[in-house]
Amino acid sequence: MAVEVLSTADGRKKTALSHAHAATWFAARQAGTPIPVGTASPPLRPARPAKPDLLDPREVPKRKPGSPEGRIALLHAVAHIELNAVDLHWDIIARFGHVPMPPGFYDDWVKSADEESKHFNLVCDCLEDLGSHYGALPAHAGMWRAAEDTVDDLLGRLAVVPMVLEARGLDVTPGMIAIFEKAGKDGAGAVDALKTIYAEEVGHVAYGSKWFHFLCGRDNLDPKDVFHDLVRKYFHGLLKPPFNEEKRAEAGLPPDFYWPLTEDIAPRGN
Ligand SMILES: [Fe+2]
Ligand SMILES: [Fe+2]
Repeated sequence: MAVEVLSTADGRKKTALSHAHAATWFAARQAGTPIPVGTASPPLRPARPAKPDLLDPREVPKRKPGSPEGRIALLHAVAHIELNAVDLHWDIIARFGHVPMPPGFYDDWVKSADEESKHFNLVCDCLEDLGSHYGALPAHAGMWRAAEDTVDDLLGRLAVVPMVLEARGLDVTPGMIAIFEKAGKDGAGAVDALKTIYAEEVGHVAYGSKWFHFLCGRDNLDPKDVFHDLVRKYFHGLLKPPFNEEKRAEAGLPPDFYWPLTEDIAPRGN
């Protein structure tokens, strides 16, 4: 089921399939007849639509955030992130089937994938209300890099995807909500969509932290040290404050996990 979502290119079709499979998964769990978790061969990169064109981040044109075009560009970037997130959550399910995990692990990522699918559609609806659509503008290439880098490291995947990238979403979303609030009537739809995203993303970060701690505990490892090592290994760059300490705390991410990663500790040559 996960591989089927990953192999579907069109965004609306991908998210429809994602919703359908999530409903099937939870119906089976509730009926006491859970779907067995097997192993799968997910594609290294998920199928994506022909548009948007994917550009190096430095080549993506910058637009004034206060203008209507700027707001559309911002929503377009969010839609791209949400579609990527749908694939990331199904990928963690398909990719690591060989690692024995409790059923709750799959529940959490199926629920997250289901929510990301909703987020993508909400943001696409806003874009369409504003006379645009997903695919109308170029988007960042390289969003899948974190998945490829951690293709054989479940702890690394948890560290970098939910606990770094999705946690970053908690830091920046309030600022985006403020931008659309300033736009009045034209921004109202986006404000609602972003508030839904903001509330649900806390859960995704929390799932990441929960299963990261579970795996460390199972192997008797110190989670904080392991987190620092893995982020330095797989995440390219330093973490950027300011952090949303309140929401990060709600999601089970303590300050001593992320603050040390704002500093470069690599030895400097003389
Ligand atoms: Fe999301
Ligand atoms: Fe998320």
